[in-house]
Formats: sequence, structure tokens, C-alpha cells
Amino acid sequence: MVAEVIYGSELAESLREEMREEVTSLRQQGIVPGLTVVLIGEDPASQSYVRGKQKACDFVGVNSNLIELPSSTSEKELLELIDNLNVDKNVHGILVQLPLPKHINEQIIIEAISPEKDVDGFHPINIGRMIAGKDTFFPCTPFGIITMLKSKNIEIEGKKAVIVGRSNIVGKPVGQLLLNENATVTYCHSRTKNMKQYTIDADILIVAVGKAHFLSGEDIKEGAVVIDVGVNRQENGKLTGDVEFESAKAKAAYITPVPKGVGPMTITMLLHNTIKSARKFHQ
Ligand code: GUN
Repeated sequence: MVAEVIYGSELAESLREEMREEVTSLRQQGIVPGLTVVLIGEDPASQSYVRGKQKACDFVGVNSNLIELPSSTSEKELLELIDNLNVDKNVHGILVQLPLPKHINEQIIIEAISPEKDVDGFHPINIGRMIAGKDTFFPCTPFGIITMLKSKNIEIEGKKAVIVGRSNIVGKPVGQLLLNENATVTYCHSRTKNMKQYTIDADILIVAVGKAHFLSGEDIKEGAVVIDVGVNRQENGKLTGDVEFESAKAKAAYITPVPKGVGPMTITMLLHNTIKSARKFHQ
């Protein structure tokens, strides 16, 4: 089998076109969706992600405000800033770019953001709502993955979904969203013994470990759906995924590429959450 490649970049573009129309109509009603991104320090990868977010906001007409602070910023200063953003009527979404410098406790920061403005979907209240199967802000990468599967009418119900990686940002929540869609979900992680026995059995395989070519065609079942969340920089400077693309493509039914796969969907779902928040604030 040769897999169909799911280009998240194409789906992201068409969704952003739709969002642009929706934002135009909101603006005509006097509602301007606003996202504030807080970036602490000078990590080049974070700076590049944040630039991508700004560009996407500009395209759809979401008002984006970037607050850049030095890595010497204290936890107290950041908490004061969040308190101010929480009560700012023009701010519908607050995103504090992770990772944070070591002297700042990430969990304290995540919990300080108002759940009603938590467009990342990281606040425990939003995680709880998601686990309870309620509508809320879903974490952007997992939500983007589900949206990609649905865009291809890929059946999730009753399928064996295997998640490789258990981060709070991707692995854990994508498993939960797949469970909400009635998949049978298995998590694999760094302590899993004989991982191949699980991956080879997966109908839907989500790989989010951050290691280049961690899995390849021989780990994958014929006809599987393979979603590669990894973004790894190779020695030649090019980006590559957690899955060895060519060998996996030869076995899978569907596969996402890196780049142009999951990445563009993450930002698109951030826009979705920000627009949703703006609509809610003006109900
Ligand atoms: N760092 C890497 N991915 C993310 C994300 O989705 N949200 C935030 N806030 N930080 C990140």
C-alpha cells in the first residue's frame, strides 16, 4: 500500500480562509478577537513559533499582541502581568510560550491564566472539562490532529489508537480526545517494554516523542493511519519527523509529513480557540 499524504498545511489554509470571513463578520459587529502571546527569554525555536502565530493572526484578522520579556523576569512579575491580562476586555486569549526559564514554575503560571482565556487548553479546569467529555478549549495540537482525521473521514470509533509519547501538551490530551471519539487507546512511553508489539497493532498511530525517525515502516501495520507530531532538526539543517517517512508511507493508508503536516494545524486551532473565546465574551 502507498499512503495518502495528509497535508495539514492545505487544510490549515482552507480553515484560515473560513476564519478570516468569520472574523470580518465579528468585526462588523464590533467584536475584535484578541490574542496576547507572552514570550520570555530568547529561545530561537520559541521565537520562530511565536512569529508563525503572529503571521497567522494577521491573516485572519485576529488582533495579536506580543509581550517579550527578558529571561530574568520573576515569577511574581509574570503573575502580575497575567492578572492584568485576565481582566483586560480586549484580550480573549492568553498564551504563555513554553518552556519557561527554570526559576519560573510552569504549573503555577498555567493555573494563573483565566480558564476562560486559556486558548492553549492547559488549565486543569479545561483539562477536566475535556476528560468529562464537555466542550471547552482543547489543546491545539491534539485538536488539530482530530480535525485532520475528520477532514479525511477517517473512522475513529472502535479503532485501536496507539499514542507514543505522554507529554501534557500532545500525548496525554490526544489520547483523551481519541477516547472521547470512542477509540480504544493505548499509551506507549519511555518505560514501555517491547514497544513494537503495540505500534504494529495500531489502526491509528500518533507519534510524539521528539526523536528523529524513532519509528519506521517495520513498526507499522499495513493500512494504518500514521500521525507524526515530531519536528526534529537534522544535521543538514532540514526538518524531519519522529517517523521515517518513506518506509512508513509504503505501508500506511494515511500519513502526515514533516514539515507541512501537524504543525500548521496547531496554530490554526489556536486561532479557532481565540475566535471561540471572543464570541463567548460577547454573548
Ligand atoms: N511550546 C510548544 N508548544 C506549545 C504550545 O502549544 N503552547 C505553548 N504555550 N507553548 C508551547
